Parts: sequence; structure tokens; C-alpha cells
Amino acid sequence: MPKKLLTDDALHRSEVTANAAMNRSRGIAGVNSYAKDLGFDVLAFLRAKLQQGDAVDWLDVCCGTGKALIEAGRELAPVTTAARLTIQGVDLVDMFDTVSPALTYVRLQAVPVRDFTPQARFDLITCVHGLHYLGDKLGQIARFVSWLKPDGQFLANLDMASIRSEENQPLASPVSKLFRRAGISYNSRRKILTCTGPAALTTSWTYLGADDSAGPNYTGQPASDSYYRLQ
Ligand SMILES: C[S@@+](CC[C@H](N)C(=O)[O-])C[C@H]1O[C@@H](n2cnc3c(N)ncnc32)[C@H](O)[C@@H]1O
Repeated sequence: MPKKLLTDDALHRSEVTANAAMNRSRGIAGVNSYAKDLGFDVLAFLRAKLQQGDAVDWLDVCCGTGKALIEAGRELAPVTTAARLTIQGVDLVDMFDTVSPALTYVRLQAVPVRDFTPQARFDLITCVHGLHYLGDKLGQIARFVSWLKPDGQFLANLDMASIRSEENQPLASPVSKLFRRAGISYNSRRKILTCTGPAALTTSWTYLGADDSAGPNYTGQPASDSYYRLQ
């Protein structure tokens, strides 16, 4: 285990968690986008949900500037109203792009995800390259998947190598088992976590803290590892 593990508060202040070189401005579709990095067409999903007639709620955690959410809001403007659609983004850092007052259903909130309490259940929860910077990754994933509507969809980029034991061993195999038991799927080639419908991800493991000196992960950007004591 690294000599010094960081608390959440220290992690929030770390250069690794929030730095100028981060890609915070993915769009909804195209080359540098949510569609590309999730392998999932968020716009098509939201359009199809709106066509079904019910209110549609999308939460994006670690939303960066909120560019993808604003673009989605603009694209969907002709087919929706604030009564039917909510697009909510949450990020530690208040570096949001300006949201046009016409997009009343797009809300961007500066708050650490740990402190965010949802007021609704969601049709879609995304976390695009955000888990890399969170402390208790398993604890946060457990919260996210518990917030889904019955047929809600969760998608996130996850580097399994970033979840480690106090002996500094990767926990990919036992973590995969935890995910499978909860009905959460992990595509190890694409490094994408998905879940349909609310899930209960439970473990007796204790979160010990995060290491922000782990270095670059598969994205090429420095990220933080999360350490657990298995019991
Ligand atoms: C690589 S950026 C991705 C941003 C956006 N999802 C995108 O793809 O354009 C990671 C984001 O996670 C945010 N972040 C890191 N730790 C966070 C935390 N504890 N709570 C909320 N956001 C966090 C950072 O501020 C940053 O905006």
C-alpha cells in the first residue's frame, strides 16, 4: 500500500483530481464525445424515452464543463419541455459552460459527487472518465446504480487496475465477482461498466483511501487508485 493514502477532502484538492489538462469538454456526439467514449448514443436513448411519453431524467456525474449536456438539451429542445425532461450535471469544479435560459431542464451543480443527494430516480446515469478521480469508487458506483429507475441505464468508464487491496494487489477478479453478483456488467476490452435497472452492490470491504500518485492510467492522464481492506 502507498505510504500515504488521501482522504476525500485531500483528494478533492489534488492536482490530479482537477487540473487544466483534463478533457472536460466532450460533446454529446462526434470525435471527442460521450457517444464515442461510452459506445452509447445518449441522444438516441433520450429521444426514444421521450417518445414513450414519460418524464425522462438523465444524471451525469463528473460532467466537466457540461458541454455534452447542453448540446443534448439543445438537440432535444424541439421535442421536449422542462416538465418532461431533466438533464442534471454534477462536478466538483465550477467550470461550466453557459446554459441558455431557454434550456430550463439543464441544471449544472458544483458539488463533490460524495455530497450529492438525488431528488429523483434516473432513466440514465453516466460517468464519463470521472470514476478515475473518485476516492471510494466502489461506494460511489453502489450509490449510482441504486438511483436508477426500474429500466434505467448506468454507464461509466472504469479502470479495474485502479481498485486495489492494502497489499497493493489489483482486485479485478473479486471486484468482477461483486459486480456480477449485483447484475452489473464490465466490458474489460472497452473498460465500460453498465447496469440496467437498480442494483444493490454490497461488500464488507473497508475503503482505506486514495493514492493520487498512481500515475497515468489507460487514458494517458494521471488518475487515482482506490485502496480497500478485504474482510
Ligand atoms: C476527465 S474530466 C471528464 C469530464 C466530462 N465527463 C467529459 O467527459 O467531458 C473528469 C471530471 O471529474 C470531475 N471530478 C473529479 N472528482 C470529482 C468529485 N469528487 N466529484 C465530482 N466531480 C469530480 C473533475 O472536476 C472533472 O471535471
